[in-house]
Amino acid sequence: MAEAELYPVPDEWRQRARIDAEGYDKLYGRSLADPGAFWLDQAKRLDWIKRPEIAGDWSFDEADFHISWFADGKLNVAANCIDRHAKAHGDRVAIIWEPDDPAEEPRRFTYRQLLAEVCRFANVLKANGVAKGDRVTIYLPMIPEAAVAVLACARIGAIHSVVFGGFSPDALAGRIQDCDSKLVITADEGRRGGKRIALKACVDEAADRAPSLERVIVVRATGAEVAMRDGRDIWYHDAAAEASGDCPPEPMNAEDPLFILYTSGSTGKPKGVLHSSGGYLLWAACTHEWCFDYRVGEVFWCAADIGWVTGHSYILYGPLANGATTLMYEGLPNWPDASRIWQVVDRHQVSTLFTAPTVLRALMKDGDAPVHATDRSSLRLLGSVGEPINPEAWRWYHRVAGEGRCPIIDTWWQTETGGAMIAPMPGATDLKPGSATRPMPGVDPQLLDAEGQVLHGAAEGNLAIARSWPGQMRTVWGDHDRFFQTYFTTYPGKYFTGDGARRDDDGYWWITGRVDDVINVSGHRMGTAEVESALVAHPKVAEAAVVGMPHDVKGQGIYAYVTLNGGEEASDALHDELVQWVRREIGPIAKPDALQFAPGLPKTRSGKIMRRILRKIAEGDTGALGDTSTLAEPAVVDDLVANRVTLPT
Ligand code: WT7
Repeated sequence: MAEAELYPVPDEWRQRARIDAEGYDKLYGRSLADPGAFWLDQAKRLDWIKRPEIAGDWSFDEADFHISWFADGKLNVAANCIDRHAKAHGDRVAIIWEPDDPAEEPRRFTYRQLLAEVCRFANVLKANGVAKGDRVTIYLPMIPEAAVAVLACARIGAIHSVVFGGFSPDALAGRIQDCDSKLVITADEGRRGGKRIALKACVDEAADRAPSLERVIVVRATGAEVAMRDGRDIWYHDAAAEASGDCPPEPMNAEDPLFILYTSGSTGKPKGVLHSSGGYLLWAACTHEWCFDYRVGEVFWCAADIGWVTGHSYILYGPLANGATTLMYEGLPNWPDASRIWQVVDRHQVSTLFTAPTVLRALMKDGDAPVHATDRSSLRLLGSVGEPINPEAWRWYHRVAGEGRCPIIDTWWQTETGGAMIAPMPGATDLKPGSATRPMPGVDPQLLDAEGQVLHGAAEGNLAIARSWPGQMRTVWGDHDRFFQTYFTTYPGKYFTGDGARRDDDGYWWITGRVDDVINVSGHRMGTAEVESALVAHPKVAEAAVVGMPHDVKGQGIYAYVTLNGGEEASDALHDELVQWVRREIGPIAKPDALQFAPGLPKTRSGKIMRRILRKIAEGDTGALGDTSTLAEPAVVDDLVANRVTLPT
């Protein structure tokens, strides 16, 4: 039984950590018993222009629905992440940048240098008409300018919307248009694993479909030749040469928006998740300290991309708010070879590595030798995020990567939650492989059954959060009603996560995965509806249904069932064309792993697609299709089973 397997807090952690087991119980107890006093006390971590006197003010009930934190406080997020550290210890390294190609030199920015760079970028934005509250879309590779651009927006109170560089021009255009952003920051090209990505060309293509776009700032990253459109495009280095390195931070209300990040849901187009300035920053700072017990002088490495919330909270905002040295890596964990991730650890003497289970599973396939070829003695903590970590990957991470020395911090959370919600504290929590363990202070998780009954003790059900926390998203950009409908109507009065979970006899939480039509591909969230609408946009496709399938590296793969228009012929060529089509429409992460031509889809008599059956077939569990008596045409299922697509192993 996995549950019987317990990894106690190592002695040295018990002694050195800020919070031990007793400390956790006290902190957690106080956070729920007296949240007002608890959070006003925590808020002292930040530098306020006006210190707040109110903490949470919220209601999840429809009649009085509102969420706010520290509403009377004023601060500037960039000043908290940079200026106060530049003043107190300006020579400390804020950001270490490790290039894609290991033969190139890393770059380092002290807090003082980062301040000057951010001020300069902020002045360039201002000179290009960006004002407080304006939306700025950032479509950059993992280069230092990505961090600088994000923080420059925060400095002047512009709302950044970072779009992952792997998204297609179409997906980018949708995200520019949805938040009516007039300015995009991009680069000539990105680099990853030795390959080039033509980012500027993607922006050009997106611009045709995004009429709000007026200005494109282009960072020179690789030096590739790119077309510049007169009157719209400018080079960052030209503009920066004329900009001052001094820019006062804009005073912001705690509730003013900090950023939008688009994420997939179970229906419709991606939602613009909106985060606040004060509550979000405090949540990122608190959880970064609670989960990782960061100490000055250590190097913290969150190996995510800034295009995802993990990069926002744990490459930038959390670590920088805490005055940490954060590492930003341009490339892939296993390029040029399977040792690279560990070589980066050695090169920069990384203390904490925070990555995703999909990365571990890919590395495990190459065996232990590439890990053993490196030293890794600087490591003291290992983090995991993005999807449930299977116990095999957990044990490998612990035994091989960490040599049995480093606690594994498995953090469960979501784009919507801003930071870790259920996760261990290294000096306080005994670990169980595969469990995200205990809630963070202030987090009140509940298990519910389908009828909305709260389940107590050891139980399995749907995961909801019964009260607000500072890092909670505030709205869906432009659609407050969708925010309420999506998260607060399944279980009235509670935030519904979309995840299933189990609580064991010790009160430990085990996340079992999404219970809605969202799939988790390599730790990235994909709405099946989005892939379906990309498929039906193809002229030869009549109908499509997409479900998740087990995948040994990605966790879940994408399985698409496609019905062609009458008269169209299924062929290998069309199969490949459709796979490429989705890749082009959304981006490489949405590319179906399996695509099956289906003469018909299993539907109820009222015309609803029976996804339960499609999931079973995709999983290969064809012996247990369950009740098929409500199907309009039962024969459809036999054809699907007979022509099931399997992945090469
Ligand atoms: C979904 C959120 C968390 C930031 C990156 C992903 C799944 C995330 C875990 C974990 C089990 C996890 C959930 C969640 N998830 N972390 N440690 N254990 N599941 O953010 O794209 O918003 O996805 O990822 O299903 O709902 P996201």
